[in-house]
Amino acid sequence: MKNASPVIAIDGPSASGKGTVASRVAEALGFHYLESGALYRLVALVSSRAGMGLEENELAKVASGLDVTFTGDQVLLAGEDVAEALRSEAMGNRASDIASLPDVRSALLERQRGFRQPPGLVADGRDMGTVVFPDAALKVFLTASVGVRAERRYKQLNDKGIRANLASLSRDLAARDERDANRAVAPLAPAPDALVLDSSDQPVNQVIAQVVHWAREKLESKPDR
Ligand code: C5P
Repeated sequence: MKNASPVIAIDGPSASGKGTVASRVAEALGFHYLESGALYRLVALVSSRAGMGLEENELAKVASGLDVTFTGDQVLLAGEDVAEALRSEAMGNRASDIASLPDVRSALLERQRGFRQPPGLVADGRDMGTVVFPDAALKVFLTASVGVRAERRYKQLNDKGIRANLASLSRDLAARDERDANRAVAPLAPAPDALVLDSSDQPVNQVIAQVVHWAREKLESKPDR
């Protein structure tokens, strides 16, 4: 992969703050940004609108056929902005079920790699450093305790005027972690060469500054990646 654009991979469990961190790191470095979870959520949305269940073949076809454009905060599905619809807990949970299907994962692989464009890419998800971009210049595994993540998600939903229940959010997150970590393909786990960052007791700005610092160090020491 000599001379390919550099990738900063940020993986971690649900609500670990990786989306905020990754998009702000991309901004600081002037890199493109891929939120890979949005692709799994899109497959969940399109298939549930079509009344589909969890049939692997059918879902893999949906995954290969996604007509999606990411522009700023918008996610345009055949021209319709579905960014808000993708964020629901129901779509997150369906995405997690769908993400355990190997044919869906392979159908999304090349699409994800296509986001790797000059001058570079920051990608967040579960398997960015392990499967999709194993040659990433920097791999970060961002985590936080279930309690802290449930509180963050609760606050996010409250801020948007969406009613939520802390105990059930916490149960859902723990169940999703369990499913993501124990599936047969691309399970949620830090790459052996990932730097693990626990953000439970750190303000988000400090986490962002730390990742930008690591990224600059890696990019300067490997200018041709
Ligand atoms: O990151 P987000 O919560 O939006 O992802 C939704 C679901 O998609 C996750 O629970 C996970 O199962 C799946 N996913 C994945 N691999 C990725 C990104 C997301 O399996 N790279």
